[in-house]
Amino acid sequence: MERKIIEAAERYVQETLRGEGSGHDWWHIYRVNKLALTIAEKEGADPFVCSLAALLHDIADEKFNASEKAGLVKVSLWLTKHEVTNPEKQHVLEIISTMSFKGGNSTGMKTIEGMAVQDADRLDALGAIGIARTFAYSGHVGQMIYDPDIPVRNTMTKSEYRNGVSTAINHFYEKLLTLKDRMNTEHGKKLAESRHQQMVSYLDVFFSEWEGIR
Ligand code: ADP
Ligand code: NI
Repeated sequence: MERKIIEAAERYVQETLRGEGSGHDWWHIYRVNKLALTIAEKEGADPFVCSLAALLHDIADEKFNASEKAGLVKVSLWLTKHEVTNPEKQHVLEIISTMSFKGGNSTGMKTIEGMAVQDADRLDALGAIGIARTFAYSGHVGQMIYDPDIPVRNTMTKSEYRNGVSTAINHFYEKLLTLKDRMNTEHGKKLAESRHQQMVSYLDVFFSEWEGIR
């Protein structure tokens, strides 16, 4: 039963997010699901709840829906239709509604399953993959690679985070480099550390090349 539900969720997400061009496509979901299961195993979290939340988390994303609420209703209807038990359904919805970064304004995760899935989503924003996704997203919204005249914002409201003027390089300082100290689980922290170093090295080379030093 659980296996069938997971397979149905995979099909649903593949159909919905196939070809999405901002770095939230099916393969982002695929990677987050794998990472969530790896972390769940290390941390003793329920793999079924972790996997469902990981697979469905971007279906409800406010970027793809009229509102955050509308996105959650969509996921809720899907879970009911596929006969997920009520406690598991509530748990998955609770995870999805609290895990997004929102410019640093998100609240903490309440359960070990939520912690595992949030860590997995954050890990996919880091390292080689994270760098690729950041430039893909920037191209998608027509944002510059870098502009030294646009300052890095240290604190932002949720609306400033989504709609304010930024650059791909600023995004590293506004979000990505802050994530390693926000990880929930021990295993998540370990994985974040090496991905963080990848980004630090990348930025070092970027700025040397910017000044024609390298
Ligand atoms: P969340 O849903 O956790 O708030 P986002 O959807 O905002 O996460 O971000 C997912 C990924 O999209 C980021 O890790 C980054 O790669 C890219 N991204 C989001 N916002 C920006 C931005 N302003 N500039 C560049 N990349 C961004
Ligand atoms: Ni995501």
